[in-house]
This record gives sequence, C-alpha cells and structure tokens, in this order.
Amino acid sequence: MALPWRLVWITGASTGIGAEIAKQLAEQGVVVATSARKADVLQASAKLNPHLKPYPLDVTDASAVTQTFARIEREHGSVDLVIAGAGTYAPLSLDQFKPEAFQSTYQVNYLGVINVLAAILPSFRAKKSGHIAWIASVAGYIGLPQAASYGPTKAALINLAECLQPDLAVEGITTSIINPGFVKTPLTAQNEFDMPFLMDVEEAARQTIIGLAKKKFEIAYPWKFVWILKCLQLLPYPWFFGLVRKFVLKR
Ligand SMILES: NC(=O)c1ccc[n+]([C@@H]2O[C@H](COP(=O)([O-])OP(=O)(O)OC[C@H]3O[C@@H](n4cnc5c(N)ncnc54)[C@H](OP(=O)(O)O)[C@@H]3O)[C@@H](O)[C@H]2O)c1
Repeated sequence: MALPWRLVWITGASTGIGAEIAKQLAEQGVVVATSARKADVLQASAKLNPHLKPYPLDVTDASAVTQTFARIEREHGSVDLVIAGAGTYAPLSLDQFKPEAFQSTYQVNYLGVINVLAAILPSFRAKKSGHIAWIASVAGYIGLPQAASYGPTKAALINLAECLQPDLAVEGITTSIINPGFVKTPLTAQNEFDMPFLMDVEEAARQTIIGLAKKKFEIAYPWKFVWILKCLQLLPYPWFFGLVRKFVLKR
C-alpha cells in the first residue's frame, strides 16, 4: 500500500509498538523522527536504517517537546503525521495505593500526549493539514483490576480524542486514537497472568499503519478482544462486576 506521509514523528519509539511502527515505516521509505528517553537505543536503530532520525526526549518535559518538534521541522521540513505513543504501565494493587504511583503514570501517559499536542498544533493549524494520532488502550474502555493507575489515563486519552476531533477536523487536521489490546512488548512482559488474544508487535504495527493510512478515527485490535470489551461496556454494572470477579479475580 502506498503510504501518504513523507515525514512522521513518533514518541515512544525506542521499544515496543512505537519502535516497530517506526521500523516498518522507514523500511517503506518514510522519514521517521524517533523520540524516547533512551538515546542509545534510538541511535542504534538509526544506524540500521538511515530513514530513522533520533530525537531523544522525555515527554514530561513540555519545553523539550516543543523545542524538539521545532528542530525536526527545521531540519527535515513539514511533519505530516505525529504518533504520540510514549507510555508507561505498572500493575497497582490496593497495597500500593500511593499518590506517586498515579502521578508518574498520569505525567507520561496523559500529560505527555498533551505536551506533544501543544507543540504541534500551531504548525498544523497554520498549514491547515496534518494527522495526529495517540496511543490509548482497550484498558480505557472499562475499568479492570490492577489497572487503577493506568486505565484512567487511557480512558482520558480516548475522551480527549473525542473532544478534539470535531474542532481539528474543521481546521483540516485528522485525529486518530489507537487502542491496542495485549501486544507482546517490554510493557506487557511484566504481566504474570495469561493475556487473552495476545498479539505480536509486528502485526500490531502493521494494523496501526493501515488504519492511519485510511485516516480511521479509531484503530483498535485485535478485533475479537475489542468487541468483547465493547459489549462488556454495555452490561449493567452488577453483571459486569460479577463477570470480572469470576473470570479476572477468580474469587
Ligand atoms: N503492549 C500492549 O499490550 C499495549 C496495549 C495497549 C496500549 N499500549 C500502549 O502502547 C504504547 C507503547 O507501549 P509498548 O507496549 O510498546 O511499551 P514499551 O515497549 O514499554 O514502549 C514504551 C515507549 O515509551 C517510551 N517512554 C516511556 N516513558 C517515556 C517518557 N517519559 N518520555 C519519552 N518516552 C517515554 C519508552 O522509551 P524510553 O524508556 O526510552 O523513554 C518506550 O519507547 C504505550 O502508550 C502503551 O500504554 C500497549
């Protein structure tokens, strides 16, 4: 499939889904500016494919994000597509219920995306075009055990996309929200439970790129898991909590 982008910027591009999307795009000749904190990992990937251009940063540093985006446009021209994929996850039990556990997840997962949006919007609005995507999760559809610090940040990102899509569309800017199920990456490697419908990262990246090329608003996979969760969302709460206790908590 012919890809509609010359220059793409991806945050969270050192490992996992972001790194694989960057790799697949670069293999198809797209120039990809890659950002994450691990500069050495970004540079090592760039050595393998010169279409990858490393721009290390921490997404929680708003001014670094703004300066990095300005530098990318100065050095490579107008960015066509931005994928804000930087994210963090740690399971949280009631014993770990401390404000710090929530603050760090919120800073990276939610405010990290806000920092990227604030950095790119002036340029995208001025040119009245561009495509903005950010990675939430199917964990944002419904609350699940152990996900109390992670799930709400992803629910907020889905809601944010719904809030912004109409205003951005009027300005000629495309919005996409990417909602993966379980994908084999360093982030999920820490899960000790059996992950239903676990996907390979190559397939997750492939489906993301196809969805973005089609300018879909929601890109969610794998479809069976997505539909199970969307149906669970419609259940009355007593039924929903009954199923969670039986099949997730198993007590
Ligand atoms: N894997 C799944 O099953 C799954 C499911 C649903 C949603 N997601 C979402 O998909 C995205 C990618 O996750 P993944 O599974 O590919 O995990 P991953 O391999 O751990 O990738 C996370 C990426 O985010 C970067 N990152 C973390 N904190 C950062 C910060 N403060 N500043 C800049 N970059 C930062 C990491 O790089 P550095 O450490 O080098 O900074 C890494 O490149 C996340 O938003 C995650 O929540 C994943």
